[in-house]
Amino acid sequence: MTTKRIIIDTDPGVDDALTFLLALASPEIQLEALTTVCGNIGIDKTTRNALAVLELAGASRIPVARGCALPLVSPLGTSGEAVHGTSGLGKADLPEPKSQIVDQHAIDFLIEHILAEPQEITLFMIGPMTNLALAIRKEPRIVPALKELVIMGGAIKQGGNVTPLAEFNIYADPHAAHIVFHAGIPITLIPLDATYKCLLTTADVEHLNRIDSPIARFVRDATAVYMDFYKKYENFDGCALHDPLTLATLIAPELLTFEEHHVDVDISGGVSNGNTFADLMKVSKKPVNMRVAMDVRGRDFVELFIDRMESLSRRI
Ligand code: BDR
Ligand code: CA
Repeated sequence: MTTKRIIIDTDPGVDDALTFLLALASPEIQLEALTTVCGNIGIDKTTRNALAVLELAGASRIPVARGCALPLVSPLGTSGEAVHGTSGLGKADLPEPKSQIVDQHAIDFLIEHILAEPQEITLFMIGPMTNLALAIRKEPRIVPALKELVIMGGAIKQGGNVTPLAEFNIYADPHAAHIVFHAGIPITLIPLDATYKCLLTTADVEHLNRIDSPIARFVRDATAVYMDFYKKYENFDGCALHDPLTLATLIAPELLTFEEHHVDVDISGGVSNGNTFADLMKVSKKPVNMRVAMDVRGRDFVELFIDRMESLSRRI
């Protein structure tokens, strides 16, 4: 099996943290680094959380580069706290990490690593895309050097989760999304249309916790606030695995159904600011700029996720 080398750009965030664990539990993936960004919570906390979760999983060898503290133009919202808790990791109480961030800004870290090995690294974007947008502006040579970009963001036929028309990651920095969508990098978009079909239930988390392990306990404690939010607003006993679903492109692509579209993002500042809209009827004649996961066998993905968490829990 050839393993895929990936970097995750992230704003942890509960489901971001679950994505790192899934990557570390997956033999198909070699996680090379994390780059952090503000989003669900401020940059100090997202960076601290990235280090702490890697340490929990015995993976503090993986470098973490701290990135942007603010979106390009929009102010940093605080709506993430309602979903992810004030620490960003729900009710999980991880010790202060002993490991340190690398001595390089995330933008420069990305540029250096992508240019050093062209067409080798797949970048997973699971937060607002501020770091990558600025990296593209600073060093456009990374565009042809990137193998692929997998983005959790947007809502195509589905409603938004932060405004009626916008998904959180895109809304948090729509200008960054605009730069990335139009850069010419091969993109796979994993929007809410697919991620809302991947619902981890409280029963799944209890089942996992039959194993006495810090990983299983972390999954339970980290998802607690997230699940309270879903219960209150969605009347559902669980939570969506938004960010982890991006990794299905590598570990279980057969679960996803893709369509190819020209997708753009509204940056006009009006009621649909941050809305991702696809030219579904091909009326604009604009070329396809991404493949979009419009559907997924959601329960199969959740079961795969639980299986991988069980094997990681047995190791740690
Ligand atoms: C996205 O928003 C964040 O709150 C999650 O971590 C995920 O990346 C879902 O809309
Ligand atoms: Ca995220």
